[in-house]
Amino acid sequence: MTRRADLANDVAEVLLTEAEITARVQELGRRISEDYAGRELTLVSVLKGSLPFMADLMREIAIPVQIDLMEVSSYGGTATENTGLVRILKDLSSNIDGRDVLVVEDIIDTGLTLNYLMRYLRGKNPASLRICTLLDKPARRLVEIPVDYVGFTIPDRFVIGYGLDYGEIYRNLRFVGVLRPEVYADQG
Ligand code: PRP
Repeated sequence: MTRRADLANDVAEVLLTEAEITARVQELGRRISEDYAGRELTLVSVLKGSLPFMADLMREIAIPVQIDLMEVSSYGGTATENTGLVRILKDLSSNIDGRDVLVVEDIIDTGLTLNYLMRYLRGKNPASLRICTLLDKPARRLVEIPVDYVGFTIPDRFVIGYGLDYGEIYRNLRFVGVLRPEVYADQG
């Protein structure tokens, strides 16, 4: 039987508080503004997980930015881990030829999604292409990804909140947390 999610009670532990996230996003915004001073930047948000991070980060950047959105999906969890196959559900709507592009992600896990995406975006001939991720989970990495901006390096735990989901739920939590084990158990 499917269990109904209970936002207030399903979280076992808060890993990153709202205040910690806010402070770090401000810092990242400042660094990005300095690094790209005098230039114009295109932020490419990789949906859906990066939505809150993108919304907060773009408002901490003090230089002109354009934004674009992509949505990608793996061909199912384990299949992706084996093959690295990624499907583009929503492509860029702007031309990034000659633009400075910063990809905004919520989390890098195996690295397979970004490995694919970076190759794809490089083919569109941007002037520069970098990555900003809120969370980095290096313990799970299968392919090396050069990451330019990292919010937090986290241990190998399944995290939810601030954009990250379990079964498409919990994205609207203001913090990053870990679910109670029963939540997984109930889902079979
Ligand atoms: C998550 C995340 C990254 C990817 C990272 O997306 O947003 O895109 O997984 O994993 P990887 O490094 O192992 O490839 P997900 O497929 O869960 O989609 P979502 O953003 O819509 O939740």
